[in-house]
Amino acid sequence: MELPFAESWKIKMVEPIRKSTREEREQWLKEAHYNVFQLKAEHVYIDLLTDSGTGAMSQRQWAEIMLGDESYAGASSFFKMKDMIKKITGFDYVIPTHQGRAAENVLFSFLVKAGNIIPGNSHFDTTKGHIESRKAVALDCTIDAAKDTQLELLFKGNMDLNKLDKALAENRGNVPFVVLTITNNTAGGQPVSMENIKGTKAVCDKYGVKLLIDSARFAENAYFIKTREKGYENKTIKEICFEIFSNADAMTMSAKKDAIVNMGGFIATRHKEWYEGAKTFCIPFEGYLTYGGMNGRDMNALAAGLDENTEFDNLETRIKQVEYLAKRLDEFGIPYQRPFGGHAIFIDAPKVLTHVPKEEFPAQTLTCELYLEAGIRGCEIGYLLADRDPVTRQNRFGGLDLLRLAIPRRVYTNNHMDVIAVALKNVYDRREKITRGVEITWEAELMRHFTVQLKRLQ
Ligand code: F0G
Repeated sequence: MELPFAESWKIKMVEPIRKSTREEREQWLKEAHYNVFQLKAEHVYIDLLTDSGTGAMSQRQWAEIMLGDESYAGASSFFKMKDMIKKITGFDYVIPTHQGRAAENVLFSFLVKAGNIIPGNSHFDTTKGHIESRKAVALDCTIDAAKDTQLELLFKGNMDLNKLDKALAENRGNVPFVVLTITNNTAGGQPVSMENIKGTKAVCDKYGVKLLIDSARFAENAYFIKTREKGYENKTIKEICFEIFSNADAMTMSAKKDAIVNMGGFIATRHKEWYEGAKTFCIPFEGYLTYGGMNGRDMNALAAGLDENTEFDNLETRIKQVEYLAKRLDEFGIPYQRPFGGHAIFIDAPKVLTHVPKEEFPAQTLTCELYLEAGIRGCEIGYLLADRDPVTRQNRFGGLDLLRLAIPRRVYTNNHMDVIAVALKNVYDRREKITRGVEITWEAELMRHFTVQLKRLQ
């Protein structure tokens, strides 16, 4: 008999988590204004808010924490991190930042001017925020197929090369760079193929435009290239990563995902002029050039995390768990963005809560229902997160309205996945009775989903 699949690690330290009653959760959610970001973490049983900064570090990473060099300038920890980034990506110039959005802030302060057009495949919300706050336009060129959650496509995160070509042709001289996000978080943690990465690079070259990779989950993307794309099955993850970045001019990185640290990020590039331009913004915003927003110990852990998480076994263990949850949801017929993504399952909320009108935010309503059902905290990636159109101030209902169940790396077991699946099934079974959603009572102008206050409609 073939042995079943199991994790490529064992557990050395545990953190207790606590269940609660439905009555407690009703009260806590009301106090949180039906916004799960406002909940206390101790009131959450299984936390799927994000896979960002929530992973379990390895023993090697914890050992590296003790070796951190906290010198203000020239710390050995910086060089350890820089050398690992160079090994994996080939980029010579590295600027540490405290997380991914800080890397965007520093680099975009140099590159983005009012009126610029920045095409991409579903810009992440902070990326979009840093573009729009500079009065530039984040132009979405994702393939249309990404919007059909039931369509099975191996690389549903891809850039539409025709849309990109058109955007670059129409905006000559006004595009500072193109941004390619791997994996495509907003479209459901969907990967981008190597063919599409190369195609994007070729279109950029045609117009003399540089290519920036938003790399938060590049290693998971490389796993999908290895397991889904012809010609890559015998390449190592590190070889695939190197090939990915050989097509890019620079990367911004939220190391809280695929480098499995609790905090950290960086910019890396092959261009001295981008480094020189960005570094003048690093010092006032983040800190001196050899620590940015990071501790020495965290740079050490980041280096070890990058090394370990660009190995196949670790990625396989992680993505097989996401796949396991997807298969459980299939048993219950619960609709999600197909096929399963790298870091999360994205439930297609309007297909579940068919009676809740879009103006009442179905995905946010489903997020609340799942929390009330079992103390599981997911995250709305939908109409609330989409913010209002900066010009018309209308809600943007054009995209998907998803409940994201992000799986932290190496944190929960498949027993937890079973609880999540059954809790969702219970909500799904009573979906016909859920007819009203939520209404906004207060919202911020930008990135409102973190702080929005809502009222439950009866
Ligand atoms: N780019 C992508 C694709 C992301 O998913 C994120 C963060 C960022 C950039 C910004 O990085 O958080 O380190 O500042 N995504 C998290 C999430 C927050 O939950 O998906 P950050």
